Amino acid sequence: MVPPPIRVDANARPGHNTSVMTNPEPRRSQLLPALLAAQAADGWISEAAAGRIAAGLGAPLADVHGVISFYDLLRATPGPEVVHHVCVDPACALAGSAGLRQKLLAAGADVRDSPCPGLCNRAPATLIETRGVLTAAEPDARDHVDGDVRWLTALCGRGRPASLAEYVASGGMRAYERALREPGQQVIDEIRKGGLAGRGGAGFATAAKWEAVAAAQGPAKYVVVNADESEPGTFKDRILLEQDPWRPLEGALLAAYAVGANRVYIYIRAEYPLALARTRGAVDVLRMAGYLGPNAFGSGFSIEIEVRSGAGAYICGEETALIESIEGKRGFPRLKPPFPVTHGLFGAPTVVNNVETLAAARTLLERGPKRIAPMARSSRPDPSSSAFRAMSPGQDCTRCRLASAWANCSSARAG
Ligand SMILES: Cc1cc2nc3c(=O)[nH]c(=O)nc-3n(C[C@H](O)[C@H](O)[C@H](O)COP(=O)(O)O)c2cc1C
Ligand code: FES
Repeated sequence: MVPPPIRVDANARPGHNTSVMTNPEPRRSQLLPALLAAQAADGWISEAAAGRIAAGLGAPLADVHGVISFYDLLRATPGPEVVHHVCVDPACALAGSAGLRQKLLAAGADVRDSPCPGLCNRAPATLIETRGVLTAAEPDARDHVDGDVRWLTALCGRGRPASLAEYVASGGMRAYERALREPGQQVIDEIRKGGLAGRGGAGFATAAKWEAVAAAQGPAKYVVVNADESEPGTFKDRILLEQDPWRPLEGALLAAYAVGANRVYIYIRAEYPLALARTRGAVDVLRMAGYLGPNAFGSGFSIEIEVRSGAGAYICGEETALIESIEGKRGFPRLKPPFPVTHGLFGAPTVVNNVETLAAARTLLERGPKRIAPMARSSRPDPSSSAFRAMSPGQDCTRCRLASAWANCSSARAG
């Protein structure tokens, strides 16, 4: 489906880079993708492969080994053909992961204890690794999505991912098309009026973050989508990316436009192979449909999206550790300040937002802050009473039967 071209006067949006695809990405940033590709080919990363990658990227071999040893899912030695990763985090422990583990061991399987892979609604959960590659768990009826108000999950919970055509028919890309005709500052103003607070945990005001990046100076700016969701009991971002990736992707495009970024990175944890595959597919479709690329959608705005996989490290959910990981380093958090809004990815001003935050931003911009704010506003400033609560993909984690997991699932309740 090719959208009709939009004609926009680029001069009406001073400060926006409308013609150049800025990507001063250092080669080293390809380290994690290269290591994952080597492992996918051979089942592990041999010394020869590590050496070739080091030489190809101009990185010291010691650094390459440092990165391999940092991530749980990178293998420096050949392992068993098939490994069963059995989740031992609370929801699964309560649902009998110890028994499952014993059963698998008794059957002669190679078993590894695993932290929560975000399949808590299927507890006790396992992930299967075959020759170094995780197999995507098939979509499951237990990926039930419910709630009184399904603003963000209108296209979720149907047992199949939404197509771009369905997304557009339901109002998708409308906010992006409209935004392209407005100054970026107007997008930020709408987000502020809607009172959107970040859904990654800290509840930070999204408009303040976008405004800081818009105001920061730099030859390039970035938007980073945090899909490293690893908190036990939390799988809302997985559901969104697997079933309606368009919504957070449109949110990321809106963020990029608002702050003047020309490149979006979406970093998805390796334990979410289905979300990775579907998001990659969605980005390809958006590109074919003309929403990405130089002069995207005929608007004069240039934008690209790159999907990156993690490699098994809880700490990479922290925004500066995630940035280090994209840069091809071990995922150690940076000292702050400076903050990513001025010194983020590759040292440039960077918006880091959670998947759900961006899905909410797009919904707020489509429906307008006036419609969203009255049902969403709260006088309490804490993140659990976020000014914008409108989704419920984690609702089924009541299956966890665990109060703390329920509380951790930041979107468990609708409205
Ligand atoms: C240890 C640690 C783990 C984190 N894990 C995540 C995570 O999995 N997903 C996420 O979006 N934010 C996570 N965060 C918060 C991020 O650092 C960052 O604040 C967030 O992605 C910003 O997005 P938001 O403004 O949309 O909430 C984590 C923070 C810490 C300290
Ligand atoms: S999948 Fe086991 S606690 Fe989440």
